[in-house]
Amino acid sequence: FAPKDMVGRKVLISAGPTREYLDPVRFISNPSSGKMGFAVAEEALSRGAEVVIVSGPVSISAPVGATVVPVESAMQMRDAMEAHFEWSDVVVMTAAVADYRAAEQKNEKQAKVSEHFTIELVPNPDILSGLGSKKGNRVLVGFAMETHAGVERAAGKARRKNADFICLNYPTREGTAFGGDDNQVTFVFPDGTFQDLPRMSKREVAEHLLDEALKRMQWAIQQ
Ligand code: C5P
Repeated sequence: FAPKDMVGRKVLISAGPTREYLDPVRFISNPSSGKMGFAVAEEALSRGAEVVIVSGPVSISAPVGATVVPVESAMQMRDAMEAHFEWSDVVVMTAAVADYRAAEQKNEKQAKVSEHFTIELVPNPDILSGLGSKKGNRVLVGFAMETHAGVERAAGKARRKNADFICLNYPTREGTAFGGDDNQVTFVFPDGTFQDLPRMSKREVAEHLLDEALKRMQWAIQQ
């Protein structure tokens, strides 16, 4: 049985991909399944926490007891995360947010015009950075997928985004990350120190992640 060590804690989770529409029927997205975020939600619920999941379009069902706020685009995800931030104690950003959206979203389906077709993209806001800038005593956890220089890049992200730590995972390892039931993560801290975890189920990763988050929270409260 999980310890009920999160009773009264409020956990806000972003999960899944975002969709950036080009026109009413086409969008830019990625293969994020939402499994990692929903596993964090399940683990937090089993430990007695209240949970809100802001989720992009996913095909898995949310754990019983979680409040789900469905969104599609990064801008909608940002608004929903901002709206629930004040309420939260722990924020876990597992969502694979699209870095760019179309500069202009057409109201009508675009017809094929010629061989070459150029889409102008503009950067999406960084949701985690926005929340990090008003962090307070909350614990903020991000995810990052890197193919190279993982620890160094993740530590930089933790510092820039003001996250307590980043769960680094690897898109190219079999059975893990995108879509898989397992994950292999490294917790990377802003000072560049890190802790490697072996491959395990996403639910077990969630357990370790929340243990680490609780440690940070107790530390913050004592300061
Ligand atoms: O994409 P990147 O590797 O920078 O993502 C690191 C963390 O920042 C992830 O937790 C992701 O959910 C978050 N992020 C975000 N908004 C973005 C891009 C990433 O919140 N626009």
